[in-house]
Amino acid sequence: MDVQICKNYEDLSTKACARVAAWIAEKENSVLGLATGSTPEGMYEKLVEQHQKGELSFRQVSTFNLDEYIGLPADHPLTYRAYMNDHLFSKVDLLAANTHLPDGQATDLMAECARYEALLQEAGGVDLQVLGLGHNGHIGFNEPETPFSSATHVVDLDVKTREANARFFDNKNDVPKKAITMGIETILAAREILVLVSGADKAEALRGMLYRESTPAFPATALQQHPNVTVLADEQAANGL
Ligand code: GLP
Repeated sequence: MDVQICKNYEDLSTKACARVAAWIAEKENSVLGLATGSTPEGMYEKLVEQHQKGELSFRQVSTFNLDEYIGLPADHPLTYRAYMNDHLFSKVDLLAANTHLPDGQATDLMAECARYEALLQEAGGVDLQVLGLGHNGHIGFNEPETPFSSATHVVDLDVKTREANARFFDNKNDVPKKAITMGIETILAAREILVLVSGADKAEALRGMLYRESTPAFPATALQQHPNVTVLADEQAANGL
């Protein structure tokens, strides 16, 4: 893995934006794998700025998000679809039909996982997959002990993950207990992976991802098997490497 230490969050976001923009410049109809959470917010802000300056068009781009909560009403402000609308989709020229997230409202969840996986294949697979990193090493919503061979699937969210995400909800009991996530094999199929890691609270998870032996007990260690991973870590997260 190529680890680049960034001066601060701003620098990390600028570099992440540049990598996404480079893919779009090189391949107009790029397929982007996108992540939610706090970490990529700065990157989305910068992508929107570049678009508004007329320097970047998403007209030919398709996007596939990593994951979505199960059970939130479609109009709930904390679905990952709503997050993506707020941070990117409504602010750039992406065609709505080219933006994809798993449907957390689907009645047949197994069929929905298969549909999502098939759609990804049809699109030719992900070119650049952006990832955040969970404190317990989760990527997407692949919690510890998820097999590295997993495709898109339904997960029970770890207590720690629900606690970490409770900050967005009025009441911690409102955090969904289940989600649909791309599997680890799905993530590893991307041509390039960009992992964003920010803040002192992620330092231990970053060390785990880089230095622990590759094990499902710490899902992010699966990335050690991928030939083209760049990690952008700010100095706080990289402290102690
Ligand atoms: C969430 C998301 C992940 C995200 C991670 C870290 O649970 N499902 O895709 O990367 O946790 O989030 P944050 O960037 O807010 O720390």
